Amino acid sequence: MKLTVASRNPKSTKFPLTLDFDGTPETVKVHDVAIAIEKKFPKYYPDRQRLTNLDKKALDVDKTLAEAGIADGATIQFKDLGPQIGWRTVFLIEYGGPLLIHPIFYYLSKTFYRATFEHSPMQQVVYYMCMAHFLKRELETLFVHRFSHGTMPFFNVFKNSGHYWLLSGINLAYWVYGPWFAAGKAASARSDVWLYGSVAVWMWAELSNLATHITLRNLRPAGTRRRAIPFGYGFDLVSCPNYFFETIGWTVLCFLSTSWSAWLFNIVATGQMYVWAVKKHKNYKKEFKDYPRNRKAMFPFIA
Ligand SMILES: NC(=O)c1ccc[n+]([C@@H]2O[C@H](COP(=O)([O-])OP(=O)(O)OC[C@H]3O[C@@H](n4cnc5c(N)ncnc54)[C@H](OP(=O)(O)O)[C@@H]3O)[C@@H](O)[C@H]2O)c1
Repeated sequence: MKLTVASRNPKSTKFPLTLDFDGTPETVKVHDVAIAIEKKFPKYYPDRQRLTNLDKKALDVDKTLAEAGIADGATIQFKDLGPQIGWRTVFLIEYGGPLLIHPIFYYLSKTFYRATFEHSPMQQVVYYMCMAHFLKRELETLFVHRFSHGTMPFFNVFKNSGHYWLLSGINLAYWVYGPWFAAGKAASARSDVWLYGSVAVWMWAELSNLATHITLRNLRPAGTRRRAIPFGYGFDLVSCPNYFFETIGWTVLCFLSTSWSAWLFNIVATGQMYVWAVKKHKNYKKEFKDYPRNRKAMFPFIA
């Protein structure tokens, strides 16, 4: 069978391209087309390509051409998405920022604040909370999450990392580890109930977040992109309990530190997660006819 590949870029000199395949639209997959394009132009590896029909609807790489509505002799469109970077690498870079930035501000206080002081118990606890949280996220990225997307455009790494490097990195570390919260200052005085109560609730939130990540992992057999309806701890109340528990963890840190910088990060992060949760919740209902109707998106019984 034959297929013509046209470029979405009118200035392209490489396209249109005519490809010949052994097989029929029922046996040739969209992925085979992507591989054939890569063979002609090695710089366009499959993750860098977006293949669409003439109505600009994306073609699912796992489907055959017939399933994607493409007949013998048809024309499809190609778009170059630009250089790509793996999702796992992006996550590792994102969380690596705060893991580097927090120790710098914590241990080099003299350089940043031009003052010598002892960290208060509140500062020590917040420091270990932040380090443990981001280390947990790195380990989950490596050993728990099973991502469905291979890659994203390389330049997104700067946009995505900005949130973590600036807001939960420099912003949080600078303002929480400063001399204004040092040992002996009234602003850092915390009762034992306040201090240890915060650690207990925060630990519960982090472990709950981990439990939901493990539930999501177990829904997807290794090496597949399968999606299913999650059930169990947290999921019986909301579609995205992982975001809910994440927000609780950071809210505890806000009340413990009383720093506006922690609130700033938490409000932006929660707002972003809520927008994603609403979208995921809608998609679940659309994708699964038997999706439980009583669930909310992110906040139990509320929204
Ligand atoms: N503080 C912050 O600013 C902030 C913001 C966002 C996230 N986070 C943290 O990062 C964590 C991960 O975030 P995320 O947005 O990647 O979470 P997510 O979309 O819920 O995905 C978590 C993992 O589960 C997979 N997954 C999701 N739903 C699935 C389903 N129905 N069936 C099978 N697999 C499914 C995802 O695969 P896919 O590749 O298919 O999506 C991904 O590998 C959050 O839970 C939170 O702890 C923090």
